[in-house]
Amino acid sequence: MGVHSFLCSSPWFRMVTDLQKEIQEAVQQRRNFAIISHPDAGKTTLTEKLLLYGGAIQEAGAVKAKRSQRAATSDWMELEKQRGISITSTVLQFNYHDCTINLLDTPGHQDFSEDTYRTLAAADNAVMLEDAAKGLEPQTRKLFEVCRMRNIPIFTFFNKMDRPGREPLELLDEIEQELGLQTYAVNWPIGSGDRFRGVFDRRKQQVHLFERSVHGKRQAKDTTLEWGDPQLADLIEPDLLQQLQDELELLEGVGTEFDLEAIHAGQLTPVFWGSAMTNFGVELFLEAFLDYALKPGARRSSVGDMAPDYPEFSGFVFKLQANMDPRHRDRIAFVRVCTGKFEKDMTVQHARSGRTLRLSRPQKLFGQDREVLDDAYPGDVIGLNNPGMFAIGDTIYTGKRLEYDGIPCFSPEIFAYLRNPNPSKFKPFRKGVSELREEGAVQIMYSADSAKRDPILAAVGQLQLEVVQYRLENEYGVETLLEPLPFSVARWVEGGWDVLEKVGRLFNTTTVKDTWGRPVLLFKNEWNLRQIEADHPELQLRSVAPVA
Ligand code: G4P
Repeated sequence: MGVHSFLCSSPWFRMVTDLQKEIQEAVQQRRNFAIISHPDAGKTTLTEKLLLYGGAIQEAGAVKAKRSQRAATSDWMELEKQRGISITSTVLQFNYHDCTINLLDTPGHQDFSEDTYRTLAAADNAVMLEDAAKGLEPQTRKLFEVCRMRNIPIFTFFNKMDRPGREPLELLDEIEQELGLQTYAVNWPIGSGDRFRGVFDRRKQQVHLFERSVHGKRQAKDTTLEWGDPQLADLIEPDLLQQLQDELELLEGVGTEFDLEAIHAGQLTPVFWGSAMTNFGVELFLEAFLDYALKPGARRSSVGDMAPDYPEFSGFVFKLQANMDPRHRDRIAFVRVCTGKFEKDMTVQHARSGRTLRLSRPQKLFGQDREVLDDAYPGDVIGLNNPGMFAIGDTIYTGKRLEYDGIPCFSPEIFAYLRNPNPSKFKPFRKGVSELREEGAVQIMYSADSAKRDPILAAVGQLQLEVVQYRLENEYGVETLLEPLPFSVARWVEGGWDVLEKVGRLFNTTTVKDTWGRPVLLFKNEWNLRQIEADHPELQLRSVAPVA
């Protein structure tokens, strides 16, 4: 027997290839995405409808009810208790046809924080949800920029077509012009508002007729007609049919061609239209999404690109959440599985510390309920109880040592000095600040003037500052004061201090240091930033910090 056939017939080899096959099958079935949208575009509604179609909930309404009970105050404990699904759940897993879909949740407006950005680091695809009456809105643009950094595929869903909306062609043009993203309309709306009659599916050349149902609690009844069916003329007004025909001709004539590679490269966005509230268009979207979305793929690591079917397990922490639920006072580290198969009670290596960990209580989260999870595959997310071991970006693995690329720091927009008025609390204050920073709760910066030693909290959302103060008081026994600073834009300087020194004195900006001692310029507003950029073209300013 030759060496090759001997190896191939060995039980070890068979075990590895069986495992690899199992992982490959799981990867083929997996799709993972996050929704990027501006508050009120309908993210909660769409999420709920996706869960409805995925059979994860029986009747829409449950998610919404929790959301409307949200507290207006910002008592952190109360917030935790009151929050709906968009806060307590980090990932929603559901099945549709033969696929397992992981929806990574990005918190909404008042909860906007760096977590939102970091979640996008774990997503393979993004769904850009827009209100068809409004088009692109600020928060969507910001989140899009983060997706762009990783060139992940973007799927666009124009929502609220049952209400009067902007011209569809104008909405596509806005995406092309302002985001530099090509568009391909997979379906096309017929009318809008009171005259919304449905959509034309360009994949199957069929018309799906819209029926108003009461808030779409159950799956919508779908009436589909072939293009050219004479009944269409009875059901849709002649002017709308004519308009549809003209617009389709235009799309065929001058529109971008369908190109799956360009979708996967994040250069072309497939576009859908619908009304999440009435369930319309949701299933059509889901079906096309499953066909076009990127499956979990290779990830860059310290030892090269890691294919998902590499038989050893590995993953990275993209989010840490503390005290999510008063019934379980603990911290959870969310790990995106990148390679291999994760199994309960597995022993893994923690790359940063070199320690060995046994992952005995992995969790799968769904809304406020937790389930112990038995196994997970690439593209899935697991929640691990975090005894202070994990930091954002940490890699865990079995087999040979590897580390995934870190998660960058994103440009903060809110800045405040954090003061400790009680000198006897200096030690717990310092410890708390340093631990919360490591955990990724907030970025910490310091004045370049060494006489000013109080830390500057730098955050993406106001809630981050409130959480830091609340946790310092409750977990470290330190009451603190916040002194807001009048800045809203931060930029890292390429080349660091050497470059800054050469440039000399800069006006209308303040220089601070980040945790790694690198210079960061703070500006009152975008206008001041643009002024500095115009006056000093030699300065390369970055809105995302290089990974330290
Ligand atoms: P968000 O999570 O993105 O913030 O948005 P959410 O789903 O909460 O939706 C915001 C509002 O828009 C809700 O109205 C919701 O019902 C409505 N909405 C969502 N999708 C559609 C749609 O397709 N058509 C129409 N007409 N409205 C839609 P609300 O008044 O804030 O709440 P509710 O009283 O309806 O629950």
